[in-house]
Amino acid sequence: MDKIVVTGGTPLQGEVRISGAKNAVLPILCATLLADAPVEVTNVPHLHDVLTTTRLLSGLGAGVQHDLERGRVTVDPRSVTSHVAPYELVRTMRASILVLGPLLARYGAAEVSLPGGCAIGARPVDLHIKALEALGATITVEHGFIRAQAGRLRGGHVVFETISVGATENVLMAATLADGTTLIDNAAREPEIVDLAECLIAMGADIRGAGTSRIEVRGVERLHAATHAVIADRIETGTFLVAAAMTGGRVTAVGARPDTLGAVLERLRHAGATVEVDGDCVTVDMQGRRPRAIDIVTSPHPGFPTDMQAQFMAMNCIAEGTGTIDETIFENRFMHVSELMRLGAEIDIDGPRASVHGVERLSGAPVMATDLRASASLILAGLVADGETTIDRIYHLDRGYEHIEQKLSGLGARIQRVK
Ligand code: UD1
Repeated sequence: MDKIVVTGGTPLQGEVRISGAKNAVLPILCATLLADAPVEVTNVPHLHDVLTTTRLLSGLGAGVQHDLERGRVTVDPRSVTSHVAPYELVRTMRASILVLGPLLARYGAAEVSLPGGCAIGARPVDLHIKALEALGATITVEHGFIRAQAGRLRGGHVVFETISVGATENVLMAATLADGTTLIDNAAREPEIVDLAECLIAMGADIRGAGTSRIEVRGVERLHAATHAVIADRIETGTFLVAAAMTGGRVTAVGARPDTLGAVLERLRHAGATVEVDGDCVTVDMQGRRPRAIDIVTSPHPGFPTDMQAQFMAMNCIAEGTGTIDETIFENRFMHVSELMRLGAEIDIDGPRASVHGVERLSGAPVMATDLRASASLILAGLVADGETTIDRIYHLDRGYEHIEQKLSGLGARIQRVK
């Protein structure tokens, strides 16, 4: 199995081009199932989760053309014959649940394996089910499958008791083909929801309010062919900017969407970085200084993203002072803590709060990645640790970061993948 070896000590310098967002491209690829003609998606990052999604779509019978070089995927849903998302795909990628709404809306039936638990928490699917039931679906959960059926879905009023990105996306997609108007209240406001809505609108959907907590969808009879370019990945951007700040360097993220990074840039400024935004470029300059420890509370957008929590924890490990990190979204998202402590970090955990006492130096050691963003935090820690840090189980990383070693090497990091 591949490993990544990082030799710490070099401040990162230079420019890095940001890829399309993983969390936008996955729902958008699922949304292509709603159309009655081919949909072309561009700015598609080369990620393992994208390959899993295209396998899922092909398995349903869709025609999928994937041009890896150009980052372009064209899905022709006209040949879809199956409505089953099997266990072996869903268990490797929870986002497979995002075919539930589109299949149900377009074909009147969907069977999606239950994703089950995952490393960062229980992550149930009750909100997805209740929301689709509000549009008239009949749903049962048996033999490890969610089985959903409906004639044409009808518009309804969905009020989420908890904000869920995935459940908002599922019901948003389903509502586009429903009979009548759907109101979604307490909707997730993530930029990826806005990007999905923009793609659906290009396909002919009638959607207002995406990006706010009330989304209104007027159902249409059909959705047609479209081309959509995926939004820049704000989590990838944030990861490189934290890497710059931690190493005392200066990095410009090019092709980014600074407007989606509010809470992250604000925390970087708090840590002492100079942050400059110029169009689609954002620069973090730490001028060789050590970051100050910062406090973080994760919350739904526009709050601080849980997907950046592990990376900021890595920064706090070598910052001046003590910073607290409160994880409010997922109940088990501190698995990187014990690995960071192997590198010499000083962290206390008390329920959902981690207190990180900054140390002057970390020391390289073998560590193990436990989930996607945890892997990124270990690479960041390795960039500032003395000597070599070897990160095992990096398949998590390949699910969500495109060419991360090449991009970091381009900024001067000493990093390589070894077999
Ligand atoms: C998405 C992102 C993930 C990010 C997360 C939170 C994708 C592909 N993944 O995941 O990277 O970390 O948003 O920003 O976009 N919940 C329920 N019942 C449900 C659904 C969710 O209780 O039916 C809970 C979850 O356990 C969690 C919270 O709601 O505590 C938020 O989860 P949700 O927003 O649904 O996350 P995902 O869409 O799975």
